[in-house]
Amino acid sequence: MTTLTPILSEHWDRPDSYTYEGYRATGGYDALRKALAMEPDAIVDAVKQSGLRGRGGAGFPTGMKWGFLPADNPNPRYLVVNADESEPGTCKDIPLMLANPHLLVEGVAIASYAIRSSQAFIYVRGEVVHVIRRLRRAVAEAYEAGLLGRNILGTGFDLDVVVHAGAGAYICGEETALLDSLEGYRGQPRLKPPFPAVAGLYASPTVVNNVESIASVPGIVANGAEWFTSMGTEKSAGFGFFSLSGHVTNPGQYEAPLGITLRELLDMAGGIRAGHRLKFWTPGGSSTPIFTEEHLDTPLDFESVGAAGSMLGTRALQIFDETTCVVRAVGRWIAFYAHESCGKCTPCREGNFWMVQVLDRLERGEGTEADLDKLLDICDNLLGRSFCALGDGATSPVMSSIKYFRQEYIDHVEKGGCPFDHSKATLWGDRPTQKERGGNQ
Ligand SMILES: Cc1cc2nc3c(=O)[nH]c(=O)nc-3n(C[C@H](O)[C@H](O)[C@H](O)COP(=O)(O)O)c2cc1C
Ligand code: SF4
Repeated sequence: MTTLTPILSEHWDRPDSYTYEGYRATGGYDALRKALAMEPDAIVDAVKQSGLRGRGGAGFPTGMKWGFLPADNPNPRYLVVNADESEPGTCKDIPLMLANPHLLVEGVAIASYAIRSSQAFIYVRGEVVHVIRRLRRAVAEAYEAGLLGRNILGTGFDLDVVVHAGAGAYICGEETALLDSLEGYRGQPRLKPPFPAVAGLYASPTVVNNVESIASVPGIVANGAEWFTSMGTEKSAGFGFFSLSGHVTNPGQYEAPLGITLRELLDMAGGIRAGHRLKFWTPGGSSTPIFTEEHLDTPLDFESVGAAGSMLGTRALQIFDETTCVVRAVGRWIAFYAHESCGKCTPCREGNFWMVQVLDRLERGEGTEADLDKLLDICDNLLGRSFCALGDGATSPVMSSIKYFRQEYIDHVEKGGCPFDHSKATLWGDRPTQKERGGNQ
């Protein structure tokens, strides 16, 4: 059986894990010293050879992204860490920054040196005030220790790091919306190309990477690319957080090699809560098509999850047992997407709004079997026709739940409403239902 690989989380149970002294006591910042003695390009090569793929959801190779920065652009280069973490179920970056913020700061310093940037930003979701405080404290400690600022460790390398608090919008996790927000504009996605590597922050070459991606870099520098590729699979190298939440006996962060299965993770997590059985789960957050019991042995790596019809995403494993109504769960997710849609493009702005209306009336026993086709039709108008991946992602739970649980949707029609026992609150919370508003569609 695959075992856990506590690497990023190795020292989380130390009471001083978040302090400079605690981090130094466990070898922290040794990788930065080693990196600063290397040529920047050698670090980029090591990250390329490690096969590290972005941990923010899309899995793009990190070293290759760094290599896209144009050599002939005279503008400053920026590193931007995406710490917006807002996808339902995704909950790995926030505990990492809370328990070990210096690991991220060290990763930022190494990555900035590698891409020849002297200005980095960490864009954190605004609601997590306690995390922002810890990060700012860690950055201040690193300045005091001469690990940030001017002439770092006497090498001539300068780096300033700004911890920026967003205002709490899921769309600001989309990398180009994040850059607009960082520049002081309303956070809405930009047209790509140009990609951030060519014209990112202030129209300058910019690397945007997820917290976990950057926090994985010190280990690669310290231990070498082969150490990293000795874990995981050939095309999905290394390790990562698998965040188990929901109806599981011991929810939490399980740091393991990519390619582990949910069955193995559940064995370590004490299984589904006592007396219940697995019904459905998300492999990578609410934007990834749901899986069922038949996928318990699917290796959780980019290729295998893709071949089985979903996406590895952020490895946010939300577990639901047989007491959960799939229509209601999907409806709550779509209400989230409708609320978080930035409104820039019509398919997403209108489509998500209407999907909530349809799911809500199914839940209330006001739906018909034709509503299933209506939902799939709306998805068809969203998928591939939205301006950014928020719209695409919203179709995942709808389409996959109809694929695996069509009969449960029909039961809602035939039994005059939700057959599960739960609060009759609307999917919108306390907003009036479509019927109460006098709507007729
Ligand atoms: C709606 C939406 C929200 C996103 N939220 C995040 C986020 O909170 N954190 C993150 O790292 N990436 C998020 N992403 C992905 C980013 O656009 C980008 O791919 C990622 O930050 C790149 O980092 P990586 O290559 O290290 O994974 C989001 C994408 C979309 C479409
Ligand atoms: S898909 Fe949604 S979130 Fe993305 S640009 Fe369009 S309206 Fe905005």
